[in-house]
Amino acid sequence: MSAVFLAERDPTVASSLLSDIAPTLLAVKIVKPETEHGLAQLGMSSMDVALREIEALVRVKNLRPPSEFVIGLYGSGSALVQLENDSALSLPWIALEHVEGSNAGTTLAERIELAGEGGVDPVRVHRLARGMIEGVRVLHRLGVIHRDLKPNNVFVAGPVDVETPKIADCGIARVEGLRLATVQAMTPGYGAPEQSLSALRPSHQNPLVGPWSDVHALAATIFFVIAGEEWCRSEPAWNAGERRSLRTSRRLHRGFLADGDLLEALDRARRRSCRRGPGIGRARASTSGARASSSVRRCSAMRRRGMRAWTSSPRRSCRRSRPWRRGGSSARARGSGR
Ligand SMILES: Nc1ncnc2c1ncn2[C@@H]1O[C@H](COP(=O)(O)OP(=O)(O)O)[C@@H](O)[C@H]1O
Ligand SMILES: [Mg+2]
Repeated sequence: MSAVFLAERDPTVASSLLSDIAPTLLAVKIVKPETEHGLAQLGMSSMDVALREIEALVRVKNLRPPSEFVIGLYGSGSALVQLENDSALSLPWIALEHVEGSNAGTTLAERIELAGEGGVDPVRVHRLARGMIEGVRVLHRLGVIHRDLKPNNVFVAGPVDVETPKIADCGIARVEGLRLATVQAMTPGYGAPEQSLSALRPSHQNPLVGPWSDVHALAATIFFVIAGEEWCRSEPAWNAGERRSLRTSRRLHRGFLADGDLLEALDRARRRSCRRGPGIGRARASTSGARASSSVRRCSAMRRRGMRAWTSSPRRSCRRSRPWRRGGSSARARGSGR
């Protein structure tokens, strides 16, 4: 979707596009040309995606004090990119706080993978979970629903024993007050079930999606931290509302294993939240109907990204089903959406 470069700021050159307090090292994120082409097939541009991320992060930056649990923004602009055998494209870029992952990994997915068979200890889980919850709380307070929380979209700074999680990649966030072309998109396994219902009426904002949809994804992400694996075994299991019990995890840290009451309490919460209501069942059935009857067209750029997306125009609709992927994989949903 994007290419991210480690950039060094030249202190002798002043730029109105960068904040005065920008550090020397920055991560510059620029949409890939192929993504621009994919979005163009959907009647959108990468500017729609970038503007969501910029607006969401500007709101956080303007907070006093700003939150360390959401990635910092230091500037934005657009660059003319000359492609081989193609014309030049103007692509948006954003300059972000550079997260130095070192050997411990940059994304939460990488860090949990590196934790190995022994799992993540309760103190570390607590620190990561608290930071992520605080980051999501800040976004919600500012009218931003992230809609794509998952281990690949949380970056983690600092050494393992003092690490700080940072919510990142707000490209498909729903930002209150922002009206832009839309693609509904989600990542199966993390996205909340109601997000898939957006396909029913693509041109309307799905009223079932709200801050609670992020809470579902946050729970799935925290489960991944504790268990070292996703809480659904397959897409059909996710559709049916089935979530694994922590007790079945092979990578559960012994600190959790020792606390039977805690595991029981977590399992009770999981069972309660996974009860499947008849409303969802009915809506799901009609979602399949809508899919079957719409003129579905495949879009190669989105397919490569493991994206499931619906555009606001039925004639241009584009969606994909994809094989189930495990946590830490590159599965992503992308696009600007509701
Ligand atoms: N601020 C950053 N600091 C360090 N690495 C980053 C930063 N932003 C992005 N990256 C790297 O680039 C990858 C993709 O970034 P992300 O914002 O998730 O974009 P997208 O999913 O749209 O391609 C991340 O998984 C991470 O490895
Ligand atoms: Mg991402």
